[in-house]
Amino acid sequence: MLFCATNLYRYEKVNEFLRKRGYFAFYITFQSVPVMNDKYSRLQIAIHWLVFLLVVVAYAAMELRGLFPRSDRPMINMVHVSCGISILVLMVARLLIRLKRPAPPIVPKPKPMMTGLAHLGHLAIYLLFIALPVIGLLLMYNRGNPWLAFGLTMPHAAEANFDLVDTLKQYHVILANLGYWLIGLHALAALAHHYIWKDNTLLRMMPRKR
Ligand code: HEM
Ligand code: HEM
Repeated sequence: MLFCATNLYRYEKVNEFLRKRGYFAFYITFQSVPVMNDKYSRLQIAIHWLVFLLVVVAYAAMELRGLFPRSDRPMINMVHVSCGISILVLMVARLLIRLKRPAPPIVPKPKPMMTGLAHLGHLAIYLLFIALPVIGLLLMYNRGNPWLAFGLTMPHAAEANFDLVDTLKQYHVILANLGYWLIGLHALAALAHHYIWKDNTLLRMMPRKR
């Protein structure tokens, strides 16, 4: 498997070399070889790091809101919900892309147990960062007041349902706190892959050099 991945990687490099020099005949020959990517796609990498930034801003808006005067609250809330809605859209998009495109192989290949744990961790991240903003949206809707996202007025229920809002808020807070742990573990695992096990896990998720 390792041999196969390395060979395909070499084909890709040869391909790139030939394409840059205009040797299209050879390029076509090499093109007919199925190529296994050694990295996530540009789009997957861009979405990964954009979501990371949005998550940082969504958390920061809530954690630091006490530092600002009360008159800034509507703006801070709007930043929070706008980031949250963007995260929801991007997480669903990346999940759909991921279902169509398998993850590139890790070299050297980790133990099956580690791969299983990683898949479980990724599934938990997808579920959490989809459920958290959905609960947030339901929470805002059921407050029954007009509210803003991206500067636009969003739909709301004709009447507030305070019991439901309280319950949703509790779930939102629990999931948000769980999110810190999941992301912390996820980032630690990525760094351990890079610095301790010295495989290509992290490099597969890094922007390509031009
Ligand atoms: C992944 C995205 C999101 C993250 C990480 C997140 C995180 C948080 C955090 C940490 C808090 C503070 C909890 C506390 O008081 O201890 C919070 C509160 C809240 N979030 Fe989110 N949230 C997200 C998405 C959303 C969305 C999409 C909405 C609504 C459209 C939303 C609406 C709210 C509301 C209404 C509160 C309560 C604010 C208050 O106390 O008045 N959140 N969120
Ligand atoms: C809010 C922050 C983050 C979120 C929501 C997030 C989410 C995800 C998800 C869902 C995947 C799985 C991709 C797939 O479907 O194959 C992933 C992969 C990955 N993430 Fe993150 N991530 C975050 C932060 C980070 C940070 C801070 C690092 C680095 C220190 C990192 C490094 C990686 C790496 C290396 C992979 C590839 C892992 C593999 O394929 O086994 N992520 N991330």
